[in-house]
Amino acid sequence: MAQAPREQWGSGLGFVLAAVGSAVGLGNMWRFSYVTAENGGAAFVLLYFAMLLFIGLPIMLSEFVVGRASRKSPMQAFQDLADSRWKPLGALFVASGFLILAYYGVIAGWVVRFAGMSLLTGFEGDAGERFMAISTGPDAILFQVLFMGVTIAIVLGGIKKGIERTSLLLMPLLFVLVVGLALYAWTLPGAAEGYRFYFQTDFASILDLSVLSAAAGQAFFSLSLGMGAMLTYASYLGRTDNLPRQSAQIALIDFAVAFIAGLMVFPFIFSFGLQDAVSASTVGALFIAVPQAFAALGTLGQVIGFLFFLALLVGALTSAISLLEVVVSSLIDTLGWTRKKATLLAGGAITLFGLPAAITLDGLSVMDAIAGDVFLVVGSLGIALFVGWRMKDAEDELRRGGLDFGWIPVWRFSLKFIVPPLLLVVLWYSVNNAIGEVRGLFGG
Ligand code: TRP
Repeated sequence: MAQAPREQWGSGLGFVLAAVGSAVGLGNMWRFSYVTAENGGAAFVLLYFAMLLFIGLPIMLSEFVVGRASRKSPMQAFQDLADSRWKPLGALFVASGFLILAYYGVIAGWVVRFAGMSLLTGFEGDAGERFMAISTGPDAILFQVLFMGVTIAIVLGGIKKGIERTSLLLMPLLFVLVVGLALYAWTLPGAAEGYRFYFQTDFASILDLSVLSAAAGQAFFSLSLGMGAMLTYASYLGRTDNLPRQSAQIALIDFAVAFIAGLMVFPFIFSFGLQDAVSASTVGALFIAVPQAFAALGTLGQVIGFLFFLALLVGALTSAISLLEVVVSSLIDTLGWTRKKATLLAGGAITLFGLPAAITLDGLSVMDAIAGDVFLVVGSLGIALFVGWRMKDAEDELRRGGLDFGWIPVWRFSLKFIVPPLLLVVLWYSVNNAIGEVRGLFGG
C-alpha cells in the first residue's frame, strides 16, 4: 500500500523540546526523589550524573542514529539497517512501550485526581487513607481513562500538529512551575533540613554495586531510553541536525529538572516533619507526604498543591505521548494502518492493559519492575550492541550533523566495550529485584 510521506518536525527546537518532553516526567519528580532518598543523597546524585553522561548519552545518541538513519519505527528500523534477526529487538521496544504506558497512565490518573482535589477540596484528613482509597479501584480507573483519552487525542494530531505543538507549549510552562515552586520551597521555615538531607554525602554508599545499578536504571528511565522512544522521535528528523549537541542539551535539561525538583520536594517534606513517610513507601513520598505538607499550608497550600500537581501532570502527559507514539508508529509502518486507526486501537488496548495496575498496587509494582526496569536495560543493551557492532555507518550518520570531532570514535568504542559489561551488571540487579517483586505478589 502506498504510504503518505513521513512526517517531520517543524524545527530543531521542536524536536529537542519533544524529546525533553519525553524525558521529563514522573521519573524526574516522583522516581528521582525517592531513589535519591533511598540511596544516599548527594553522593547518589553525583553518581547518577556520571551514569547519565557515560551510559545515558551514548545510548541516546545510538537511538538517534538508528532512528534518523532508518527513518522508521523500531519494528522496521533494525531490519532495514541490518537483517531480520534484529527484529525481535524492535518487538521488545514496542512491548515495553505498551506495558510502561499501561501503568504510567494509572499513576498519571492519580496526578489528575490530586490536581483537581487541590483546587476543589484541599488535602485535609488522613493522607495515607486517602491515597489508598484513590490509588486503586473505580476511582483510579476513571482518571486513568481520562488521562489516556487526552494522550490519545494528542497523538492523533500527529508529529507536528500534535506532539510538537504540545511540547512547545507545555515545556516552558513546566520549567516555570518547577523553578517557581523550588523558590517558594526555599522560603519555608524548615527548608534547611530538607537541603541537609538532600545534600548529605554518604560516599561509602556509592561504592555498592546495587547503588550503581539504581543510578543507571534511573538514568535510562528518566532519559526515556531502551525502548525506542528517542529512536522513534529521531526518525522524524531531517538529515542535518547536530545530534551530539541536541542529545547533550536534552540530557542536561532532564538532569536540571530532576535536580530542581529535589530542591522543591525535600524542603516540602522536611518543613513539615514528614520524612518517615518517605522511607516508608516509595510512592508515598509524592502522594502521601507532599499533600500533607499542602494541607498544613491551608488555602495557600491548595494553590501550591495545584501548581505542583499541574507540573507533574504536564511532565506525565508529554512522556505518555512518546510512549504511545512508539507503538503507533510501529503499527503504521508495519501494518500500513492509518494514524487514526493505529492510535485509537493501540491507545484503547493499552488502557485496558493498565487495569491490573489500577486494581492493585502490587500489580503496578510488578509491571514497573519488569517493563520499567528489566526491559529497558535489555533494550539498552540491545541498542548498544547493535550500534557498536552491527550497524555499518553509525559514525558517518553522526557526522552528518555537520560536526566531526574526536569524540565520535570514543563513543563507538564505549558502545562496544564499556557500556555492555556495565549493563550486564545493572541487568543482574534489576532481574533480581523483579524476581523479588513477583515473589512478593504471590506471597512467597
Ligand atoms: N522519561 C519519562 C519519565 O521520566 C518516562 C518515559 C517516557 C519513559 N518514555 C519513556 C521511560 C521511554 C522509559 C522509556 O517519566
